[in-house]
Amino acid sequence: MKVVKDKGVEGKVCVVTGATGVLCSSITEDLLRHGAKVAILVRRMDAAEDFIKKLAKKGLKQIIALKADVLDKPALEEACAAVLKKWKRVDVLINGAGGNHPKGTTPAEQMTKGVKLEDTFFGLTTDGFEFVNKLNLIGTVLPCQVFCKAMLKNGGAVLNFCSMAGYQPLTKVGAYGAAKAAIMNFTSFLATHLAPMGIRVNGIAPGFFITNQNRFLMLEKDGKTLTPRGNKVIAKTPMRKFGQPSDLHGAARFLISDEASFITGVTLPVDGGFLCYSGV
Ligand SMILES: NC(=O)c1ccc[n+]([C@@H]2O[C@H](COP(=O)([O-])OP(=O)(O)OC[C@H]3O[C@@H](n4cnc5c(N)ncnc54)[C@H](O)[C@@H]3O)[C@@H](O)[C@H]2O)c1
Repeated sequence: MKVVKDKGVEGKVCVVTGATGVLCSSITEDLLRHGAKVAILVRRMDAAEDFIKKLAKKGLKQIIALKADVLDKPALEEACAAVLKKWKRVDVLINGAGGNHPKGTTPAEQMTKGVKLEDTFFGLTTDGFEFVNKLNLIGTVLPCQVFCKAMLKNGGAVLNFCSMAGYQPLTKVGAYGAAKAAIMNFTSFLATHLAPMGIRVNGIAPGFFITNQNRFLMLEKDGKTLTPRGNKVIAKTPMRKFGQPSDLHGAARFLISDEASFITGVTLPVDGGFLCYSGV
């Protein structure tokens, strides 16, 4: 019997934002291991160079780093031109840059009598709310505008990073939830808009992974003990654990590969069951 090899991501030119972060550095390494060529867009070249050196030691060398803030359209355009010059095409865009920020977070879960006003929704600054929304939503829209244009000739695939907070508001992180819900909506919009051009647009919604953006919410200062919120998350996750970055690999590779050629506009939860469990 002939063994059929799946189409995978081998040879695909992938652009990844947020690639020095916890989740997308892991995804980048996985893509390289599966034969993709990866251009990472970063704000700090020194962090990217360290990352690339570490990958090279593992024999993973089909990677370049380009400096671009996801909110800076001219820089994104320059990065896109550099990718086209090097590899002649863009097949995949992964929008991993994003995250929450204490400035957009309310210390109190609910408004109750006696709670300090500044710890509630009323203490949120427009600045904090705007920062989180701009980074996540506009930081997804602009790379799509730039890199999907480069896909118009050959088609391609986009993967946007959403969140549980986009499906179901979480306490404290109202700005982040609003931004991620907007990304899910935008994902469906763009999927419809670009479908005739052979460009698919999907999302991935990680459950809870301990990373830079949420460590302060999940773990006490000792870095080990769960906060009351961390305990609640585990209690509502049927698999009773946080995710590991590698838990995202298969889902991400599938959605951007030709194996998912008739899938567009969806956001796939990778969450240990968090979304399906009501808590009762
Ligand atoms: N960690 C989780 O549990 C979790 C859950 C759901 C969704 N997510 C989402 O997954 C994505 C990756 O998260 P992570 O946990 O790896 O975060 P992270 O903080 O480790 O990495 C985020 C990356 O984005 C980059 N970045 C931030 N602002 C940028 C800008 N303006 N321009 C360019 N790059 C910028 C950072 O430098 C960093 O490399 C984010 O969109 C996040 O919201 C994370």
